[in-house]
Amino acid sequence: MFNSAFKCRVCDNNLSITIDFGLMPIANNLLEQNYEVVKSEYKFHMQTAVCNKCGCFQIVKVPDKNLMFNNTYTYFASQSKSMTHHFQILGDSIMKNFVKDESDYVLDLGSNDGIFLKNFVDNEIDHLGVDASENVVNNSKSKGINAICGFFNKNLCESIIKSKGKAKVIISTNTMHHIEKCHEVLEGMDLLLKDDGMIIIEDPYLPDMLKLGSFEQIYAEHNFIWCCSSYKTLFEKYSFFLNDVEHFSIHGGSMRYYFSRNKERSKSVDKYLALEKNIKVADDLTYENFKIKSEEVCNKLKNFLKEEKSKGKRICGYGATAKSSTLLNFAKIDGSLIECIYDSTPAKIGKITPGTHIPIKDASKFRFENFDYTILFAWNLKNEITAKEKKNGARTTWVEYVPEIKLTNAN
Ligand code: TYD
Ligand code: ZN
Repeated sequence: MFNSAFKCRVCDNNLSITIDFGLMPIANNLLEQNYEVVKSEYKFHMQTAVCNKCGCFQIVKVPDKNLMFNNTYTYFASQSKSMTHHFQILGDSIMKNFVKDESDYVLDLGSNDGIFLKNFVDNEIDHLGVDASENVVNNSKSKGINAICGFFNKNLCESIIKSKGKAKVIISTNTMHHIEKCHEVLEGMDLLLKDDGMIIIEDPYLPDMLKLGSFEQIYAEHNFIWCCSSYKTLFEKYSFFLNDVEHFSIHGGSMRYYFSRNKERSKSVDKYLALEKNIKVADDLTYENFKIKSEEVCNKLKNFLKEEKSKGKRICGYGATAKSSTLLNFAKIDGSLIECIYDSTPAKIGKITPGTHIPIKDASKFRFENFDYTILFAWNLKNEITAKEKKNGARTTWVEYVPEIKLTNAN
């Protein structure tokens, strides 16, 4: 722990560094198998801090946003059927409870490939997606979604209001924690939301990350890990109040937050604010313990891989996730221990993982390879992936590693 010149992005309090991950690549920046590209690979010094005042957990120095979100973004959310279903339920609830008037529309910040807005297209309900990566915007447009490419801020919101009016619902799932300049987002929301509108945010929940020791949620794009206390502090600066929260087990534990101009507060909000106090989310010491837990996860997995490799076992991975970039780079696990990683995303297949340069192969071929062990890097989608591969007749032993090594036969 040492003091730094950095200030909390939410409340401007002084920050001290809690965890130093060393040099890291951009997690979703998968590389072409080309020497020149590999040689010039971008890396940044990833250090984290927590604000002792508001509990905001953040990466202190984040790469330029244009390096992370551009025309070669590789994360396409609709690859997962279970996530698609999750957002269909949310879409139905919003259509039923919030979209009442002819002029009401829903704006999705970080609309990606349209995983959420597809529900609004199917029900012919007015909507607008905003995303900073042109390739995913184009993908969503091909599904009939009304989307624009850009960084969400005051200027963008002013132009949206001119062309479309104010939004009844602003939703942002698994995106707010990607945006370093969180005040720019709030300035935009402040202008764009109708007076009786609702803001719904969902992303990984800090106490879950601490409990599981799932430090993999921290990477360049995930430059915040939010909780009730830090979001409440941020939104109240713009007179938005946290009305309710809902907890989900997805992505290793996520929280959905509801904000409006109304000051009403549910019992759930009180419950989770109390929990955050209890587990000391804002204390440096909590992160010292978390760091020890994280190193243990790395060491146990690396030792397991080394031992099995020395016995001549074949080992691959499943899910070229952004999470795994933090794990592999922090633990220094590369192609000498893991032969390849299977993934279903066309934009990932044929590339190599950032920093560790492990080849990514087409998941549809996985069933033919019969690896002795398969490290489940997409552990958050375990049920969906293992059920699919069981049906495919794949033979392997699945390896989970958070919080402990757990082996499961695939059939
Ligand atoms: P995800 O866990 O959403 O995470 P992250 O945010 O850490 O990148 O990524 C899941 C990855 O797994 C994604 O690259 C798609 C891939 N995937 C498959 O290859 N097969 C599948 O059946 C599913 C559901 C996902
Ligand atoms: Zn703060």
